[in-house]
This record gives sequence, structure tokens and C-alpha cells, in this order.
Amino acid sequence: MSSSAPSVVERVEAFISENKRAVIIGTAAAIVALGGVAYYASTSRGPRGGEPDVEKAERKKDKKKSKSKKRKGAAKDKEGPILEEIKDEDAEILNEFDFSPEDLELMSTEERTKLAAELKAKGNTAYTQRKFPIAAELYTRAIKVTPKPEPVFFSNRAACYVNMAPPQYEKVLEDCNEALRLDTSYVKALNRRATALEALDRSEEALRDYTAAAILDKFQNDAAAQSVERVLKKISSKKAEQILATREPRLPSYTFVSAYFGAFRTRPLPALPDEPTEGDRTLIMSLEALGAGEYSQALTLVNEALEQGISWDIGKAEALNLRGTFKFLMTEVHGAKEDFLSSIALHPSLTQTWVKLASVYMEQGDPKKAFESFEEAIKHNPDDPDIYYHRGQVLFIMNEFTDAAENYTKSTSLDDQFVFSHIQLAVAQYKSGDLAKSMATFRRTLKAFPQRSEPQNYYGELLLDQQRFQDAVEKFDRAIELERAKPPPYSQISSDRGPHINVLPLVNKGLALYQWKQDIGAAERCCQEALRIDPECEAAVATLAQLSLQQGKIDVAMQMFERQSELARSEPELVAALTYQYATAAQVEFTRNYPEMANQLSQMARAMA
Ligand SMILES: *[C@@H]1O[C@H](CO)[C@@H](O)[C@H](O)[C@H]1NC(C)=O
Repeated sequence: MSSSAPSVVERVEAFISENKRAVIIGTAAAIVALGGVAYYASTSRGPRGGEPDVEKAERKKDKKKSKSKKRKGAAKDKEGPILEEIKDEDAEILNEFDFSPEDLELMSTEERTKLAAELKAKGNTAYTQRKFPIAAELYTRAIKVTPKPEPVFFSNRAACYVNMAPPQYEKVLEDCNEALRLDTSYVKALNRRATALEALDRSEEALRDYTAAAILDKFQNDAAAQSVERVLKKISSKKAEQILATREPRLPSYTFVSAYFGAFRTRPLPALPDEPTEGDRTLIMSLEALGAGEYSQALTLVNEALEQGISWDIGKAEALNLRGTFKFLMTEVHGAKEDFLSSIALHPSLTQTWVKLASVYMEQGDPKKAFESFEEAIKHNPDDPDIYYHRGQVLFIMNEFTDAAENYTKSTSLDDQFVFSHIQLAVAQYKSGDLAKSMATFRRTLKAFPQRSEPQNYYGELLLDQQRFQDAVEKFDRAIELERAKPPPYSQISSDRGPHINVLPLVNKGLALYQWKQDIGAAERCCQEALRIDPECEAAVATLAQLSLQQGKIDVAMQMFERQSELARSEPELVAALTYQYATAAQVEFTRNYPEMANQLSQMARAMA
């Protein structure tokens, strides 16, 4: 354990806490900009034409023959009407085309081919009349008659099974398997099999097929892209739920935790009562560990202290505040809220707890309650700069940049030593379109905090956003230099601590080099360097994943997505990482199943980037 604890503000190494969404202009945006490379599920990319020919033809026919029914291709119609019974007049068609094996033996190959085509045509007519059982039977006969089985017979019969009531998905699978055995790039059969697999809740196989269909269609088909997206979402959400249900609650990365605590000004330790209990002393040890940045130690101790019992109200309120904060960081929002409310009941003038309670309400999607909490905090101490800073963050996230800017300014007027209220002010000004003001705020901040890397880094992000690449890289370089020059803050290395270098400027530099010179190698080296220093840097992992995808290094990309899932703190982050992971996996499977298409795929990926 170290004895010399630096001030909390000094330990704010990167600001990616609750404010993650708020503070970053560039990183996230840039990742999105370069990302999605091979992520074809996105609906907004690529030129989109009509639907594949056969579906279109079917629909045209459909329009002509039965104007009354509006339906989408061969997709199952929810409204019906679906004819299950074969009526007498239809039975005649079947009688007309009833051939025994002996009949067939007497026919020539040409005759049989012609007959099969005729049966198929009759089947198509029955299909467009929505007489699915007859259509299916006609296709069955075509299959019996034909000297050479054609994939379309099976695929069309599968379409009948999809539309029957109830749909016969197992049969759909059988027929599509057969159709695809005969023609591996038969898009309609792939889509039909996917529909059946999806209905049978075999989502991963459905994703495989929808993906193949979308790629074979060169992403020209909106319905296919939407299907990929829908199934991906289903798989990722389900998987995320499973992971979160079984995952031990744990603290996020050191950088994250220290940034979160760093967003609150340090307060003196509470004075112990005259005759402190064991629990009282444990609490003080916990708060000391917190001050030293030894977070898991602080967490263990505060739990112990509360178990042992704390003898005075202020101490107990502090303990509940701290335990609630840890719960919040471990995404146990409900437990966090309980602790904060208990803390407030004991010691309502601890304004920090109100501010944290506001975060809980925001997490629960209740901004009204969040703002009420801020008001309560102000009632207790109108001069606490933390309140206005955090209210600014909430307003920022809600895109209320003018109010946000006012609140940051107010926070700064109460205490101008917190670098992030300056930075956030500049970013809020930028977001509300006042570039000149924003740049002025940044320059002032750079001057006021010459030894801090953060103003350089975020100013760099602003420059990057404006495509002023060279200036941006200069700022990132300066930020990196300042980070490297920081003296190690601790006399000893403890496993409880993370890296003391904030690697975000390194990742940003990589992104800038990529956007500026398309220098993927340099971008990768920056991210790898960042990960060497801080293996938990999510931005570096996410960027490396996208850069790898871009180059077709799918294995590396997959590893990075898996890592991203491990690091993901919240459910949406986890779902996003899993979505990429599964989308990529489906693509890998595609290149394995369609090796001849692999090259075309990477060309398309490049074209879409
Ligand atoms: C801060 O934001 C609130 C909105 O929640 C707004 O009413 C207020 O005027 C802003 N400015 C200050 C200085 O508090």
C-alpha cells in the first residue's frame, strides 16, 4: 500500500465515466466513421436497388391475378386466407397430372423435362392464387417427373410450406437444404431457410443464412439487410442478458473508476467519534484506500465497515454513499439507489449523494427526478461546484447545450481548478455551433492548465472533427508527451492500480493518422501501444477491431470484439460489442462456405467504407 496519495483531481487520467457519452467528440464519432466497414447490417450504406427478380415476378403476377390481397413477396401473410382444403375443381388439375412410375418410364427425357416445367408453371399459378397445398403437390410432382432435379422446385415448394397454416418449417428446411445443395448461391432459398430457422428460434443459423443472402445480393436488398439487423439484435440481446445474469458484479477499468471518483472534489475525512467502534475505524481505512486509488480495497473495507456497524450518522451516511457509488459503478443501479436514499435519510446535507442519486435517476430514464435531486442538492449547498458540473453533464447528454454551458460556467466560477468543467464548456459551445467561442475557451484552458494533457487531447478531437489533421496530431502528440512526463504517482506498484498514463490521446492520434493519410499501420501501432500501457482501454480495443476488419484480418477483429465484450460495462455497450462479434462471425462463416466469394466480399467492404 502506498502512503503518498496524490490529489483526486491529479488522478483523473481520462474522463470516461458517467460522462463518457458527454465528453468525447472525436473518439466515438471517429470509430463510428471508420467503423461499420464490414458491418453490412447497417441500413444506411450502399446503393439499394429493388428486390431479387423472382420475388418481383411473383409479386407482379400476384397483382394481376389477385388484386385484393396485398402481400410482401412470398412472405407469410398474417391475414390469410390460406386454403388448406383442396377443392374439387382443383383436384381435377391434380388428377390430370397424375402419373404412375410406369407412365414415366415410357416417357423420353425431353418429355419429362417439358412436363416438369408445366407442373412448375401450374404450381406457380396455384401459388399466386394462394392455394398452397395444391401448389406444393404440383411441385412435388414436378420433382417426381423431372429427369434432373431443379433447385427452384424445392425452393418454391418451401415457399408453400412457409405460407401454410400452420407453417411447416421443418419441411421448409428440408426443401431449402435440397435447393441449396443443388445451387449454393440460391438467394431465395437462403432467405426462406432463414425465415424458417428464425421462426424455429435457431437464430444463429438464421443469421448465417440471412448474411449469406445479403452478401450474395450485394447488399442491394433492404429486406435482407433488415433481417440481418433484426436477428443480430435478437442474438446479441439474448446473449448479453445471459452474460450479465451469470457475470460476477465487478468494477470497471481503473481508468473508468478513477475518472468517476475524480469528477467529485475531495472532501476531508469525517471526524471519528470519541469512542470509535471497529466499524468506524474500518470506514476510515476504506476512505483512505479510496484516496490512494486502491478501489477494490476500498470496496472490501466499506462492506466490512457496514457489516461491523458504524456508530455515528455522518459516518454511516458516508459509508452508504461509498457503497452506493461502487454498486452504481458495477451497474447495480437498484442497490445503489437504496444506499443513496438511506444515506440521504441519515445526512441530507451531503450534497454529493444527491448528485449521485441524480445519476441513478438518469440511468433509470427519469430526468425529471434527476433534476429534482440537483435542486435538493442546491438547497443544501448552493455553492458546491460539483452540483453544477454534474447538472451540466446531464444537460449535455440531453443536448441542452446552452443550459449545460451555463452550468459549467457556474461550476467554474465557484472553483476554477477542475479542468473538466473548462473542457466541457468548450465542447458544449462547439456542439451548440459556436466554434469561435469554443476555440477561445480551449485556448484559455490550454494556458490555464499547461501541464494537463486533457485540454490538448480534447482540443485535438475538436480539430480532428474539423479535419484539421496536422493540428490535431500535434495536440495529441503534446498530450502524449505530457502524459509520459507525469511522474508515477505512487511510490509502490500495487496490483490494485491501473496505469497512470492516460492512453486516449494515443488512440486519437492513431485515428487521426488513419483519417488523414489512410495509414492503417500507424493507426494500429498507436492502438497497440495504448493497449500495452493500458490493456483495458476500450477505445483502443474498439479501434483495433475496426482497423482489423478493414484489412480483412478477421481473426484479430474477432479477438478484439470478444475483448470488447469482456470490458463492456453496461448492457448497451455489451450488446454493441456482441453485435459486431456475431456479425463478423457470420461473415467468417460466409467466406468459409463461399470461398470463391471471399475476394468479392472484401472488395465490397472496401467500397462501402
Ligand atoms: C443550469 O441548468 C438549469 C436547467 O436544469 C437551468 O435552469 C439553469 O439556469 C442553468 N444555469 C445555472 C447557472 O444553474
